[in-house]
Amino acid sequence: METHTPSLETLLAAAEPLIKLAIEEDIGPGDATSLSTLPPDVELAGRIVAKEPGVIAGLPVAEAVFCHVDPDITFTPHVEDGQEVVSGELIAEVVGPGRSLLAAERTVLNFLQRMSGIATQTRTMVDAVATTDARILDTRKTIPGYRVLDKYAVRMGGGTNHRMSLNDMLLVKDNHIDGAGGIAQAVRGARERYPDLPIEVEVRNLRELRQALDLTPPLDRILLDNMSLDQMKEAVVETGGRVPLEASGNVTPDRVAEIAATGVAYISAGSLTHSVTALDLSMKIGPRQAGRTGPPTPEELAADIRAVKQRLGDRLVILGHHYQRDEIIELADYRGDSLQLARQASQTDAETIVFCGVHFMAEVAAILAQPGQHVLIPDLTAGCYLADTASPKGVHAAWDALDAALGNADEQVTPITYVNSSAALKAFCGRHGGIVCTSSNAERVVRWALSQRPRVFFFPDQHLGRNTALSLGIPASDMMVWNRFTPTAPEVIQSQRVILWPGACMVHQRFRPEHVETVRQRNPAMRVIVHPECKAEVVALADESGSTSTIIHTIESAEPGSQWAVGTESRLVYRLQQEHPEQKIIPLADVPPFCNTMGQITLQNLAEVIAALDRGELMNEVTVDAENSHWARVALNRMLELP
Ligand code: 13P
Ligand code: SF4
Repeated sequence: METHTPSLETLLAAAEPLIKLAIEEDIGPGDATSLSTLPPDVELAGRIVAKEPGVIAGLPVAEAVFCHVDPDITFTPHVEDGQEVVSGELIAEVVGPGRSLLAAERTVLNFLQRMSGIATQTRTMVDAVATTDARILDTRKTIPGYRVLDKYAVRMGGGTNHRMSLNDMLLVKDNHIDGAGGIAQAVRGARERYPDLPIEVEVRNLRELRQALDLTPPLDRILLDNMSLDQMKEAVVETGGRVPLEASGNVTPDRVAEIAATGVAYISAGSLTHSVTALDLSMKIGPRQAGRTGPPTPEELAADIRAVKQRLGDRLVILGHHYQRDEIIELADYRGDSLQLARQASQTDAETIVFCGVHFMAEVAAILAQPGQHVLIPDLTAGCYLADTASPKGVHAAWDALDAALGNADEQVTPITYVNSSAALKAFCGRHGGIVCTSSNAERVVRWALSQRPRVFFFPDQHLGRNTALSLGIPASDMMVWNRFTPTAPEVIQSQRVILWPGACMVHQRFRPEHVETVRQRNPAMRVIVHPECKAEVVALADESGSTSTIIHTIESAEPGSQWAVGTESRLVYRLQQEHPEQKIIPLADVPPFCNTMGQITLQNLAEVIAALDRGELMNEVTVDAENSHWARVALNRMLELP
C-alpha cells in the first residue's frame, strides 16, 4: 500500500513546470544586478554548503535548475540525496558563466532548502521510532503542485509515502462514513466501484474499530484518528495483528516515539510537508581558480594534513573505520572494522593515534594504548546512537534484577558488551567476569560466555545478540528482550539463556525484509549480504551476513561478475562499488542509510586536530579514567586473547 514512490523520472517531470515557473518569477527577462555588474565572459565557481546539520534532498532538481538557466553550468554533487550532512559540509560545486550562476542561486537554494528541510524533519521522526517496527508516513498536506517533490523528499528522509492522490487508494474517512450511513455501507460501496484499489478506513473510537475489524475480506489498513496513547494500545491488542494500524493526529517529534511504542504499524504526520522548516544552505561564489584567500578547498586541506604526516613520520598514526568518508580513508594509515582497528591501536608505537571513527572506538584505542600514547578524535561529539541506548545506570538496574531473580548473577550470567558501548560498560563486564565482542567475533565470544555460566546478558545491540545466538542454534524461545520499564517475573528470567538489551542501530534497523524481497524480484541472480546489526528477519532472508570486514572480504573474493546487494552503512557500499568494478554492487535499500555520527569526521576537523598537533597541542584528546580503563581492559583482553 505504499508503493507510489516517485521515481527520479517522475520527480524531474514534476519539477520541470515548477522550475520554469520559478525561473520566470525570479529571473524573468534577466538578473539586472548580475547583468550590470559582471563582465559577460567571467567564469565563476560556487560551493553549496550546509550551514546546519540535516538530510539532503533535491540534488537532481538543483541540477535541473542550473541547466535550465544555462546549460554551460557544470554541477558536481559531493553528497547523495538522503545523506546526512554536518554543518559546514560541502554539498555540491558548480562552475560556469558567472552571470548565470548568480541568477540561478536563489531558485536552486529555494528548491534544495525546502526539500532538504522535509527530509531532515522526516529523518528526525524516523530515527525517533528506529527501535520499533513503525513506519513514518506522509499525507496529502502538500503545497499545491509540489506533491511529487515533497513526497520524494519524505522518502529521502527515510519515510514512506502514503497515497499520492485521491485515485490510487481508498481512504474512507469520518465524513464518508457519516454520509454513507455507516462503515459497512461506505466500504461496500467503495469496494463495488473500485475492487482493485487498496482500502483504508478511519475509526474514531474502539467501537468503530470493532466494526471495521468485522468486515470481510479484511481491510488493507485501519487509521486510528486522534486517539490517546491508551486507546491506541487497546486498539493494537484488540486488532491482534489482523489488520495493520495507522496512527494519525497530533504527531510531533516529541510524541512519535511513544506512539510507536503502542505497537501501531504506521504513523502519518501532516507536519512533514505542511510545516516545513527549510534546511539552512548557502552558496558561496568565487573566482573559478580559487586561491588560498578564501576557506581552504578539500584538496588544500588534504595537502596540509599530508604535509604534517610527513613531518611527524612514525610519531603519528591515523586510523579510519570503513564507514568514514572517502577523503578521510585516503588519508588513513590503516582502515578497518572495529576489531581490526582495536588491534591496530594496541600494536602501534606511534606517540599519537588520531582515530577517525566514533567516540567508543577512540575510547577503546585509549584503553589499549601504551603509557604516554595519546588518542585524539577530530570531533569529540561523534558518538554512536546504538552505544547511547545503554547507560551504566540502566545496565546496573538490569543486573540487580537478574541478581534477584537468579540468586547470584555473577555465577549465573556472563555479561557481554558489544564494542559499540561506553568504557564504563566495558568496565562493568570486566568486573563481572564478562567480555567485549565485535561483530567479527560475536559467535566465538557468546560460545565462550556460555561455557563460563549458563546464561548471557548481551548489550546494547539486541539484533547482534539475537542473530549470534540464533546462528549458534539457540532458539528464539530461549531469549528475552530486557524491558526497562516493566519488571519481568523471576520465573521468566530463570527460563531464558540469552537476555538481550533493547538497543539497536538506527542505520541498520532501516533495512527491512521487503528490501531483500524487492532486490530478489528485480534480479534473482543478486546475492544479499548484510551486517548482523540488521534485524533477524532481514538476516534470515539474506544469503550471508557478517561484520564490515567480512562483507568486504566476501565480495573481494567472489567470482568476478557476481552481483551483490549490500545491507550496511552506505559509504562503505559506495566505496566497494568504486573499488570493485569487476562486481556489480548495489545498496540493499532504496534510500541507502548513512551513519551521521561517522560522517561528523570531516577533512576540516581532521585538519584542525592535525594542525594543532603540529603546533604541539593535543586537541580533542580521548581519555578514560584509570579505574574504568583497568576493568575495561580486562574485558577487552578476554576478547583479544580468545583463540
Ligand atoms: P564493525 O565492527 O563491523 O566495524 O561495525 C561497527 C559498527 O559500528 C557497525 O555499525
Ligand atoms: Fe553506531 Fe550504527 Fe553508526 Fe555503527 S552505524 S557507529 S552502530 S550508529
